[in-house]
Amino acid sequence: MQRVALITGGSRGIGWALAEELLLRGFRVGIVSRNPSEAVEAFQARDLPAFAVPLDLTERPPQEAVRQVLAQAGALHVLVHAAGLNIRKPALELSYEDWRRVMYLHLDVAFLLAQAAAPYMAQTGWGRVLFIGSVTTFSGGGPVHIPAYATAKTGLLGLTRALAKEWAALGIRVNLLCPGYVKTEFTAAVWQNPAFYEPITNRIPLGRWAEPRDIARVGAFLCGEEADYLTGQAVVVDGGFLAY
Ligand SMILES: NC(=O)c1ccc[n+]([C@@H]2O[C@H](COP(=O)([O-])OP(=O)(O)OC[C@H]3O[C@@H](n4cnc5c(N)ncnc54)[C@H](OP(=O)(O)O)[C@@H]3O)[C@@H](O)[C@H]2O)c1
Repeated sequence: MQRVALITGGSRGIGWALAEELLLRGFRVGIVSRNPSEAVEAFQARDLPAFAVPLDLTERPPQEAVRQVLAQAGALHVLVHAAGLNIRKPALELSYEDWRRVMYLHLDVAFLLAQAAAPYMAQTGWGRVLFIGSVTTFSGGGPVHIPAYATAKTGLLGLTRALAKEWAALGIRVNLLCPGYVKTEFTAAVWQNPAFYEPITNRIPLGRWAEPRDIARVGAFLCGEEADYLTGQAVVVDGGFLAY
């Protein structure tokens, strides 16, 4: 049976790399983002079974993503929530609207997607929910101030543990993948600024920022059969950053 994955944020960065890993392992992958077409067409040109689910998760009910994947693929086994945004401002300058925007996309959308997806996973007795946390799940942020982002990422740890317990008996594993510093568009403002890039890089024992694939290979493991006895965990992939 071909397994079906829904990946938010699959059009680029970490979500894209995880989509590629799952496609190469034989999954069908629905890519949810505002503009998924280019990534999907490139996968299809390689004969990889990706399909597009164009959706702005902040403008439309996130459950629509689950409905569209079911309509196109007829099943749903894996949910990955990798779509994200960040607003880098110190707490004293952060408006409540900024706070809500960050919390909503990372945390509220994670809950709403998982709640919509779990009944379909339960029907087959097998499912994987993978949220994307961060080293800020544990650190609260670094030289750049990101209070809403760090709070949302820590909140995902609570959600991961709560859902892992509730859904264990349904065959659903729920985990949190916590990347360290990854070179993507998301962090360009940080890695392009030597004042941030150098102190962060100097703190990484492996001596470099991650590429999306470094994260995606661990994510694909968590979405597969081998991770059957793994649930409720935060798996940190950070080149040793938090061990510093
Ligand atoms: N990069 C890092 O160092 C790092 C470290 C730790 C954790 N993370 C986390 O990893 C995840 C992915 O980050 P990344 O670095 O891969 O970011 P990225 O390259 O900027 O990709 C973000 C993805 O989210 C999608 N997206 C953004 N807003 C959306 C919306 N409103 N509706 C639907 N899709 C939306 C984007 O697609 P469209 O533009 O097509 O909508 C894109 O596919 C995020 O949760 C981030 O917090 C990143």
